[in-house]
Amino acid sequence: MTGLRFHIRTYGCQMNERDSEALAVLLRDAGYQSAGREEDADILLFNTCSVRDQAERKAVGKIGLMRRLKRARPGLIIGVLGCMAQNRGAQLLDELPHVDLVVGTDRLHLLPEILAEVTAGRRGQIHIEPGTEILGELQRHEPGKVSAFVSVMRGCDQYCSYCIVPYVRGREKSRPADEIVAEVRELVAHGTMEIFLLGQNITAYGLAERRRAGRLTPEDSPFAELLRAVNDVAGVARIRFTSPHPRYMNAAFIEAVTTLPKVCEAFHVPLQSGADRVLRAMGRGYTLAEYADRIRRIRDRLPEVTFSTDVIVGFPGETDEDFAATRNAMNDIAFDMAYIFKYSPRAGTRAAGLADDVPQAVKEERNQILLQDLERRTGTANARFVGRRVEVLVEGRSKRDARRWTGRTRAAKVCIFPPAEGVEAGRLIEVRIERVTPNSLFGVKV
Ligand code: 5AD
Ligand code: SF4
Repeated sequence: MTGLRFHIRTYGCQMNERDSEALAVLLRDAGYQSAGREEDADILLFNTCSVRDQAERKAVGKIGLMRRLKRARPGLIIGVLGCMAQNRGAQLLDELPHVDLVVGTDRLHLLPEILAEVTAGRRGQIHIEPGTEILGELQRHEPGKVSAFVSVMRGCDQYCSYCIVPYVRGREKSRPADEIVAEVRELVAHGTMEIFLLGQNITAYGLAERRRAGRLTPEDSPFAELLRAVNDVAGVARIRFTSPHPRYMNAAFIEAVTTLPKVCEAFHVPLQSGADRVLRAMGRGYTLAEYADRIRRIRDRLPEVTFSTDVIVGFPGETDEDFAATRNAMNDIAFDMAYIFKYSPRAGTRAAGLADDVPQAVKEERNQILLQDLERRTGTANARFVGRRVEVLVEGRSKRDARRWTGRTRAAKVCIFPPAEGVEAGRLIEVRIERVTPNSLFGVKV
């Protein structure tokens, strides 16, 4: 037993959250302890993101601040993990000389051994060279979580022109369905009710493998088959997933998500732009009309469905007309939520070769306009829930107010309610909504 305490700070997407959780379990098994607070840790780990320049700068800034801490406590071990570690590698050790170890996404499972070497003082600064990711190595879970992330695939073969992910996370690799189902069974046996399936390009689940085996037809959706298999696991109450790509949302996929009872009616479908010209330059592989068609086919069959999306403003060459097309598309599709990003060039991507010609001030303005549109829409959209009963999966006590409880509706709306008989984490309850804010529904258990 080492007794050393670690703290992991996570940046970026849910894949990273999943990795950080698995790492924490792995480290605890190796004899380390979780430090609740950064100040109490002997080992500080930063699980980083590379997707935008800002994400990298945020992590580099934060890790830079650790220099002083390290000077005061030379025994402190500082590690940079994840996408930025994968992307920038040993260069980070030069930039941040107080960092002890750099371990990219595909070698994370080796962390206990690497830390053992560092803590034993056998090695100075360590950069672990990228290798071949071993899927399934990093699938440990904190027991008893109401909602659990399950990673089903890694990497991305889409090569959207702005995106660094294929270069960082590598080619698409899917886990076998039976392995995923076994993991889901295990989670359910320990009290998990909601399964959140993760993959950078999740609708491409299993495609590369099936293509290599020479038995892929355009009508196939191995991801739809996976959804069916997870839906069949007794004890799973809800299924969510992220992120689908419109290009692979074929009839089999739409059939599965609109008919499987456990798949929740809330989908995150990245749009990126509403202008066909920009979509083409981004290499997205669909037009706005095709995107809208997928949405309509789902909405026709699931009237209560909600959609969220990702949008980039200020892609190279984006004109006022292109932006207006994005704005109109967002209003027409009526997203319940959207993440809006200002384009930043990423070294090595195709778009990095294009002039980043939309001025920062214009990107900022377009960003603000979309945010305001969204706020206006969502401010009133929740009003439709007042007086209605909704099914809520209880997650736990509200962080803001421990006297109240919180959970989510199937459409992923946060719901707040007072304690009552049967209100405990992991229970499915019915709540009658009394009032709403743009972000939450408030009600009482019925
Ligand atoms: N600049 C701005 N936003 C980007 N995203 C990905 N790459 C970039 C980039 N170079 C956004 C996309 C993606 C989300 C995770 O980040 O919208 O869906
Ligand atoms: Fe960031 Fe992409 Fe890595 Fe997730 S996979 S942490 S979004 S770079």
